[in-house]
Amino acid sequence: MSDLLKQTEEITKIILEAKKKAQIETKEDKSKDFVSNNTDIEWPINCVVGPGLEGAIACTSKIGYVNGAKGWLIYRGYDIFDLCAYSTFEEVSYLLIHGKLPTKDELDIFNKKLINYRDINYTIKLLMGLNVEEMNTMAVLRIGTNFIRHDSTFIDSKYYKPDFNSHISSDEDSIPMETKPMGEKEAIYEFKKADYQEKSKIMEKELVDPIGYKSSYRLLSGVASVAGAVARLRQGKLPIEPNPELSFAANLIYMTTGKIPTPVEERIMDVSLILHADHGMNASTFATMVVASTLSDMYFAVGSGIAALNGPLHGGANAEVLKMLKEIGDIDNVEQWYEKKQQNKEKVMGFGHRVYKAYDPRARVLGPLAEYLIQNSDNKESKKIFKIAQKLEEQVIAHLGKEKKIFPNVDFYSGIVYSCLNIPVELFTPFFAVSRVSGWTARVIEYVQRNRIFRPRALYIGEFDKEYVPIDKR
Ligand code: CMC
Repeated sequence: MSDLLKQTEEITKIILEAKKKAQIETKEDKSKDFVSNNTDIEWPINCVVGPGLEGAIACTSKIGYVNGAKGWLIYRGYDIFDLCAYSTFEEVSYLLIHGKLPTKDELDIFNKKLINYRDINYTIKLLMGLNVEEMNTMAVLRIGTNFIRHDSTFIDSKYYKPDFNSHISSDEDSIPMETKPMGEKEAIYEFKKADYQEKSKIMEKELVDPIGYKSSYRLLSGVASVAGAVARLRQGKLPIEPNPELSFAANLIYMTTGKIPTPVEERIMDVSLILHADHGMNASTFATMVVASTLSDMYFAVGSGIAALNGPLHGGANAEVLKMLKEIGDIDNVEQWYEKKQQNKEKVMGFGHRVYKAYDPRARVLGPLAEYLIQNSDNKESKKIFKIAQKLEEQVIAHLGKEKKIFPNVDFYSGIVYSCLNIPVELFTPFFAVSRVSGWTARVIEYVQRNRIFRPRALYIGEFDKEYVPIDKR
């Protein structure tokens, strides 16, 4: 058992308690849908497809399994509760990407590589040229993946570090945005003509291992470093160098807040990273796989995963939940607030799921962990928010639990956990993305081994044989 697990046995107990509760509540249900014992599936297969591709089977996978009826979440055959109780994010990432738990030596080498890839100085330098404090944090995170890509392709080139002549500010008169477009004759790259011709001869280097392990590791560490840098830049502070002595979770908190976390804080962040690492063919994973299936590369693919995750129906819900709880403002307002939501037929953020029709196992862990943090904190505002959340959960389950099988999902309590760890609200969704990089890249690596470009059809319900009418006659 690692030192961290020994120091945080109370957290392990909470997780095992959640596991026991889950087993008691779902033990009657034996169904195992969307499973096959046959590893060589004969396509095409029959499935009933609903809107939003509900029920569609797009590929086979050995990476992870979600059983919505039972509230099961399995990574590579291991129960999520056991992984949270006994493992670490680094080990779980290895498991997802490589398909087995690592030996001690394999984990040591993996950790060393991840630590090495935390240093993304050139990417940070490029990020510092952006107006990060005014940008959506997920937008910066997505751009960050492109910068890491750029970093990887220029790494050994003599142009790796930009020189003064290539800066836009070197000649104000020739900034193209300030001149009228003149077409081909007046090339828009005039502002860096001096070195453009020479530079253009140097082609971008090929990415090493564009859809393989190296890119996966670089992104796993790099996206976390970008998230840390974004948090700091938004506060008007300089990004912090990664600390090679710290675990993935501790370093993430350190680079974000500037403080080395306590063992309990580190462990809770680690558990949260494990819980968010993979989740079947969710929208962002699918987006990532669609991009990779064109044989574009891992950096572009992860960038599209980040874009998809940002939506409030997906990962963006964690930030929305905290806003919603603050908007409710007081435990006595919950009933009235919820009634109004119902009347307006509006959704409550942090509830419901396309797949889970039972309590989301991730919320089963994060709820009690939030409670544990709140009990040990003297932050009155957080205590109030947590009480509002508990009351809202009661209300929603009482109305929609039985009838529509709507329960809290992972995003309902994750924001409260992050707040207690002093993570700013605009970093909640980026933190989700940081963990999900392991699932995204694992699934991309698996899929491209038997790649077929994703290319579904739409059912055309439009018209035919219309006559074109010129614009002045419409
Ligand atoms: N609050 C109230 N009613 C809901 C909710 C909710 N959060 N979610 C679903 N319903 C109702 C919905 O109104 C519909 O009712 P009816 O059949 O009477 O029209 C029924 O349940 C089915 O809803 P749906 O929108 O068709 O379900 P879906 O599978 O398309 O959407 C969902 C799943 C997660 C997008 C949806 O539950 C939702 O919008 N939840 C709120 C946003 C949220 O918390 N997202 C995080 C999801 S989990 C983590 C992640 O993926 O990032």
